[in-house]
Amino acid sequence: MTEATYTCQTVTARQDWVPGKLFSLRVTRPAGFSFEAGQFARLGLPEEDGGAPTLWRAYSMVSGVQDPWLEFYSVVVPDGAFSPRLAALREGDSLYIDKTVFGFLTLSRFADGEDLWLIASGTGLSAYLSMLAEPGLWQQFRRVVIVHGVRTGDELAYRAEIDAWRARAGVHEGAERLVYLPIASRESLPGKPQARLTTLLEDGRLEALAGIALDPARSRIMLCGNPGLLTDARAFLKTRGFLPGRRGIPGNLAVENYW
Ligand SMILES: Cc1cc2nc3c(=O)[nH]c(=O)nc-3n(C[C@H](O)[C@H](O)[C@H](O)COP(=O)(O)OP(=O)(O)OC[C@H]3O[C@@H](n4cnc5c(N)ncnc54)[C@H](O)[C@@H]3O)c2cc1C
Ligand SMILES: NC(=O)c1ccc[n+]([C@@H]2O[C@H](COP(=O)([O-])OP(=O)(O)OC[C@H]3O[C@@H](n4cnc5c(N)ncnc54)[C@H](OP(=O)(O)O)[C@@H]3O)[C@@H](O)[C@H]2O)c1
Repeated sequence: MTEATYTCQTVTARQDWVPGKLFSLRVTRPAGFSFEAGQFARLGLPEEDGGAPTLWRAYSMVSGVQDPWLEFYSVVVPDGAFSPRLAALREGDSLYIDKTVFGFLTLSRFADGEDLWLIASGTGLSAYLSMLAEPGLWQQFRRVVIVHGVRTGDELAYRAEIDAWRARAGVHEGAERLVYLPIASRESLPGKPQARLTTLLEDGRLEALAGIALDPARSRIMLCGNPGLLTDARAFLKTRGFLPGRRGIPGNLAVENYW
């Protein structure tokens, strides 16, 4: 990675959702940095203070495509090379960003569809937050279901922001246009089953909770986060008629593994 391929940006704000585990950083946006909602940046940090960036990791943009800043939401992997360093950044610190943006988990993957299911585990939620700010999402889809699977309720970051989008989205034929399903696997949340998302998908409870049936003709599904979850969810969804697009044929499923 040479200096010509990245820029140095400045952290302008941070939020700790679960201290020591989950946090967000807002940083200055490089000039000319444009992206589609759902894409990711490569963030860089030096191994030693003041050095050139040598550690690079993928991070989905949380911020909307029109926002004048970039925002990223991160977990801290305690023995990870990158995330503890990222977590140590404070306002005024430098963060390097590759000039190129990457990724195909975007709304352009779906040519049509009526109901959009955005299913995430943990920080996989990041990519979907950027999508909520897309006017095209609300023009294309009648209803949107955000499913966020976490270990415990305190990890339900951005809950207030999603509720604000819910209020703004309003109703369609008497039903909320944005359905938000926060699900915890290691504690019980009021009115929600304590379970993994794969279990709720397979036994039909996810559809019952949303009040919307999964239908390959009408539903479009995105999966983002833990690769084990995604592999199992993808295998189950295949039995229900959901497949990613290939060779120019639009699909009804889009998947992004975080590791
Ligand atoms: C396309 C893409 C987009 C990504 N977007 C984000 C994002 O928006 N936010 C984010 O926090 N991470 C994101 N990641 C993961 C991120 O790139 C790093 O893997 C993460 O920051 C950990 O880096 P690390 O060096 O500390 O540990 P690594 O050595 O990279 O990972 C070590 C282990 O930690 C676990 N792990 C890694 N990432 C996560 C995670 N996000 N949640 C739970 N467990 C994890 C896995 O078991 C992994 O094997 C994304 C990855 C990809 C491929
Ligand atoms: N959460 C913590 O206590 C904690 C604390 C410090 C650091 N960390 C770091 O954070 C990382 C974990 O982050 P995270 O909790 O956001 O992500 P995660 O482990 O992917 O868990 C998120 C959700 O996905 C579920 N899940 C995991 N594997 C699955 C599979 N194969 N099939 C179906 N569902 C699955 C989990 O259920 P289960 O609950 O059943 O696993 C949980 O509901 C670890 O790598 C660790 O380094 C975690």
